[in-house]
Amino acid sequence: MSQLRVRGLAGKKALTGTLRVSGAKNSALKALAASILFADELRLTNVPLIEDIETLSTLLLGVGVTSQRTGDHERTFSAQNVTSGALDVPLSEKIRASIVLTGPLLSRTGGVSFPHPGGDVIGARPIDLFLAGFVAMGATATSMGGTYTLKAPQGLHGADIFFRIVSVTATETLMMAAVLAKGKTILRNAAMEPEIPHLAEFLNRSGAKISGAGTPTITIEGGPLLRAGGTSYDILPDRIEAGSFAILGSLLADELEITNCVPEHFAILTEMLRFSGAPIKAEGSSVRISGNGKRSNNTFKPLTISTHEYPGFATDLQAPMTVFLTQVNGESNVFETIFEGRLNYTQDLVQMGADITMGNPHQIIVRGPSTLYGRELFGPDIRAGLAYLIAALVAEGDSVINNVHYIDRGYERIEEKLAAIGAPVKRMQ
Ligand code: EPZ
Repeated sequence: MSQLRVRGLAGKKALTGTLRVSGAKNSALKALAASILFADELRLTNVPLIEDIETLSTLLLGVGVTSQRTGDHERTFSAQNVTSGALDVPLSEKIRASIVLTGPLLSRTGGVSFPHPGGDVIGARPIDLFLAGFVAMGATATSMGGTYTLKAPQGLHGADIFFRIVSVTATETLMMAAVLAKGKTILRNAAMEPEIPHLAEFLNRSGAKISGAGTPTITIEGGPLLRAGGTSYDILPDRIEAGSFAILGSLLADELEITNCVPEHFAILTEMLRFSGAPIKAEGSSVRISGNGKRSNNTFKPLTISTHEYPGFATDLQAPMTVFLTQVNGESNVFETIFEGRLNYTQDLVQMGADITMGNPHQIIVRGPSTLYGRELFGPDIRAGLAYLIAALVAEGDSVINNVHYIDRGYERIEEKLAAIGAPVKRMQ
């Protein structure tokens, strides 16, 4: 089991240089699922080198979708021989994104069986929206011994579906299912995360008829299998990785350029950092932090952060942002509105010296500035794992971060990227 060893910078703004953002995990995983909708080979570019891509590729292989790595960040997927809709249980229990395969698989093969999807333990994470959507589209759903079985031997048909809760993966899954369904599907109260219109645009270029993606109402006219015809799908830059780098840079960099990103996709974060006092600005496909060395973190202002669906403050940036708030001057409030178990990691920050009070599972008060002290940490999930890495760099003294596999699930070669800007982070095998 590898560990990250981190030498704390004790709040010194010692980092400088350029960080290139990788392709987005939560865009790439959905593109892999989309390969099931294609009659021909799908080529993906800007695919991040992360654990979750390997896990989902193996799951796809189990249902007959073959893949090849054709370059460092390039892969092809071919679903010509999709044989079965039975998803491997242990692998499906590893990642939440396994649920996204159910839509295209059910639509293409007429049946799918799968366990409750796994993934980060950040709340209950039910799948009722998915099941209700499939049933509205004509499938039968049964559950026995922890396995769900969906059947639609005659194929799915269009339906008018209103989501009780805005859900990213339910929107993506039903949107993809509807591409091969008979007739028109309308998804209302749909999620608007940038990965959704980006995927819809590519599917449309390959023959799908999706309109309204990126708004709360998406309409899909079903049709035959899609054809990529040799074109490739370029995965979006990761707005969560970019945002996490912006937080790290605001705390610890003098000059930092974050490149290959879409600043508009994490504009709320940069606005918050700037309002607090960080000298950060967007320039084309980069975000730049400049002249930060002369600004002490304890002159930064406190903030109120409330997580929200896009374009609001992403729940995936809440943990790193809380680390930022431990260093600013005054009392900040953080409201986690999406997941009920996504503030538990703050106990470890308190152990490091942070002054954080939990009002209830959805709310904390952070009082700063606090000196954090290095210690041994066990990353609890992907995003909190990265937050620990930022906390360890801010701290005085050394830290060891265990459970690095969580960080590896979502961030490509993190220690190499950070070492290149001067961060004392080393991986020990
Ligand atoms: C996606 O999860 C992302 N995962 C998450 O990223 C991200 O935190 C989340 O969206 C919110 O932005 C992937 O894209 C693979 P939701 P998802 O369904 O789709 C409730 C990361 O670290 N809900 O939008 O699973 C649910 O409990 C991960 O990369 C139901 O009640 O999240 C939550 O309270 C972590 N019933 C809310 O909806 C359902 O059937 C929103 O969750 C589905 C969801």
